[in-house]
Amino acid sequence: MAVERESVDTSEAEIAVHWGEENYVYPSAEFIAQANMTDPSVFDRFSLENFPNCFKEYADLLSWYEYWQTTLDTSDAPCWKWFVGGKINASYNCIDRHLAKNRNKTAIHFAPEPVGEKYEHITYQELYVRVNEFAALLRDFAGLKKGDRVTLHMPMVPELPITMLACARLGVIHSQVFGGFSGKACADRIVDSQSRVLITMDAYWRSGHLIDHKHGADIACDLAGKDGQKVDKVLIWQRYPGKASSPTAMVKGRDYFVNEELNKYYGARIEPERMSAEAPLFLMYTSGTTGKPKGCQHSTGGYLAYVTGTSKYVQDIHPEDVYWCMADIGWITGHSYIVYGPLALCASTVIFEGVPTFPDAGRAWKIAQDLNVNIFHTAPTTIRALRKIGPDEPAKYKFKFKHMTTVGEPIEPEVWRWYHEVVGKGTAAIVDTWWQTETGGFLCSTLPAIKPMKAGSTGPGVPGIHPIIFDENAKEIPRGAGKAGNICIQNPWPGAFQTIWGDRDRFVRTYYERYCKNPKSKDWRDWPYLTGDAAVEAPDGYYRILGRIDDVINVSGHRLGTKEIESAAMTVAEVAEAAVVPVKHDVKGIEPDLYIALKPGFKASEALEKKISDAVCSEIGKIAKPRRVWLVKDMPKTRSGKIMRRVLASISNKKDVGDVTTLANPEIVEDIRKMSK
Ligand code: WTA
Repeated sequence: MAVERESVDTSEAEIAVHWGEENYVYPSAEFIAQANMTDPSVFDRFSLENFPNCFKEYADLLSWYEYWQTTLDTSDAPCWKWFVGGKINASYNCIDRHLAKNRNKTAIHFAPEPVGEKYEHITYQELYVRVNEFAALLRDFAGLKKGDRVTLHMPMVPELPITMLACARLGVIHSQVFGGFSGKACADRIVDSQSRVLITMDAYWRSGHLIDHKHGADIACDLAGKDGQKVDKVLIWQRYPGKASSPTAMVKGRDYFVNEELNKYYGARIEPERMSAEAPLFLMYTSGTTGKPKGCQHSTGGYLAYVTGTSKYVQDIHPEDVYWCMADIGWITGHSYIVYGPLALCASTVIFEGVPTFPDAGRAWKIAQDLNVNIFHTAPTTIRALRKIGPDEPAKYKFKFKHMTTVGEPIEPEVWRWYHEVVGKGTAAIVDTWWQTETGGFLCSTLPAIKPMKAGSTGPGVPGIHPIIFDENAKEIPRGAGKAGNICIQNPWPGAFQTIWGDRDRFVRTYYERYCKNPKSKDWRDWPYLTGDAAVEAPDGYYRILGRIDDVINVSGHRLGTKEIESAAMTVAEVAEAAVVPVKHDVKGIEPDLYIALKPGFKASEALEKKISDAVCSEIGKIAKPRRVWLVKDMPKTRSGKIMRRVLASISNKKDVGDVTTLANPEIVEDIRKMSK
């Protein structure tokens, strides 16, 4: 069956802590009084009987040039088309339509990492001007037009959303690569998306260092060129316009400083392209179970409607709110819930350049106090880190969150309680949002004013999302049975990605083949969407997510494929075999442990361990750095020669390895266990 599953013999879900059901915690009357959604009948309106027309409510939050005729077109199942016939522009919806009433309102608050640098407050008018001028540059200088792809490799600075919105204005498909990814990872994405323009920044601040980022662009262009994709132009924003912050030389005829070129487009205004609702807005690459990342293709109309609707009702964003999501825009969370959702709602969104624990444990709370942030959004890994270094810090600052989000991994009830009591000062409503790069927006969460919170549970499906749990034999696990299985979504929804860029077969195989009832069917009921997570549903309809069931791991909330890390290790000449397993970590959630068998004739050494670890960092990025590189004599294998990652995972997690007598080389298990003691 599915190629993508063949090799899974251990997964995150198996090492998950299966905590129990906690008691309900209720939102305050104060929160409910101001909430956007307080009507429990929303769940009837968004029931399966009212599907797909219920999503008109979300589409109507947007401004359309031409209203759509068909809510959902299933003729090319499972590539669903939403709001067909509609014409819309995302940049217009995030900027222009707010100008008449809110020109002077802050769209983006930028918090630079150096404490001595002032905040920047970009109004909607200024955002409009900067996006238009840069769109003119993209069109007239870089020659980009509707449907072209362009790769962005940018840090957390306002120029990133400006670039995204300028692309959206022209109908150019942006593909932002997380700034922390290496030049090599960027090259792979340039090649896959066939980008001939790369947009980057010369440098950015991280933990007190001004990091040379332009260097990555040179590697990316070089490697992409070798792989058949020439980059004609590299557009480089300068962290300090007019000042060189990177020692890397400019390549003549290829590299251009944006701020120098921009002068030529002073005062330019670009009419937004009237895009079909189903025209792609962006690609977001994500790790899958093979070494090759998948370009998740998101639509314009469906995606924007979904992130706007969920931002309004799940995150409770009002135009007057100051909203801070600490994710990186290089991940889907940042696209949906820093840029597109909040700006479509005319809120003020905060962009923070650096790490929230630098220079001290109070940094995040100082920013919250300074900017009067009232909605806060972050990942459990960050909450754990902030708690570890400064459990009492939040109390020292005068901020008051009305609402807080967590995303990316399961949150331990104990950590949840600290978040609620200390960060939320006992009054903020919390939503634990479960979703994925592929899904564009939230799948499960409580609705903050309607459903009580439950620590450690994500909650029920959000309006219009109908989860179902199947067992290994495609039998539905009865609702509320409290039994673990593979969580799927029964119905399509507008935020879902349209396909994997250039690889429809892989899209169908990975997400739909497993539980598809009839591959010829054009009826959405036959195509449950496989999320790749294990979950249990409690009798009250709340889900607890246990973790991935495949070769994907979540390291500090960053999604990585174990196969990607293994392929990176295999680039080292001495390596014969590589196996990555997930290990539990008290702050990062999960860390990768890397087991290596060397080719005959090579000796284990610390230098070699470092060489392999460095190779992983340069192939993928520092975020993928293994906890340890274990150079083992041999891998534990089945008689048919398959590496038993499950055994390695048990050793790494100090768990019982179980019965290994059926292995081809059972004696090696004890050897490896002794090493890791
Ligand atoms: C995990 C991030 C538990 C899950 C938006 C999913 C979660 C993967 C939660 C997607 C949560 C995300 N509770 N697990 N609230 N949110 N996950 O694509 O395993 O970077 O499949 O999207 O993160 O990661 P991705």
